[in-house]
Amino acid sequence: MAIREIVKEGDPILRKVCREVTVFDAKLGRILDDMLETMKKAEGVGLAAPQVGFLRRFAICEINDGELLEIINPVILEKSGNQIGAEGCLSIPKIYKDVNRYMNIKVKYFDRNGVEHTRELNGFNARVVQHEMDHLDGVLFVDKAEKK
Ligand code: CO
Repeated sequence: MAIREIVKEGDPILRKVCREVTVFDAKLGRILDDMLETMKKAEGVGLAAPQVGFLRRFAICEINDGELLEIINPVILEKSGNQIGAEGCLSIPKIYKDVNRYMNIKVKYFDRNGVEHTRELNGFNARVVQHEMDHLDGVLFVDKAEKK
C-alpha cells in the first residue's frame, strides 16, 4: 500500500462530476487499499476517489468507530429525517462547519468485487456517507454549511 496525496480545495478536480466504475479489477482494489492507508494517516473518517485524483464514483468511510465501508457507484434509495452536525474534510484542512444531512439513508452500492449491497445507515454513519457521496458530484461540505 502507499500513501496518496490528498487534493486540496481550489483544485478543479474536486468540482468535477465523477463517472461510474465499470471495471472491478485489481487496480481498483489497490487504489482502495491506498485510500485506507491515506485516510488513516490523515486521521479522517472518509475519503472519496476525486480526493486522490480519480474521477470515478467510489469512496471509503469509517463507520461504527472502526468498520470500513467501501462504496462503489453508491445510490441513495431512501432517506428520512434530518440532523445538523459539524463536518470537516481532508481536502479543506482545519475548517469545521455545521451541515444539515438526512438522519437515515438506505444506500445501494457495489463492493470491490462488483457485488451489490443495500444497507441502512443512520446518524453519524449516514452523515459520513452523504459527505463522501457529495464528493462524487463535485460538492464540498462548505457549499452546504449552515449560514451563521
Ligand atoms: Co470531504
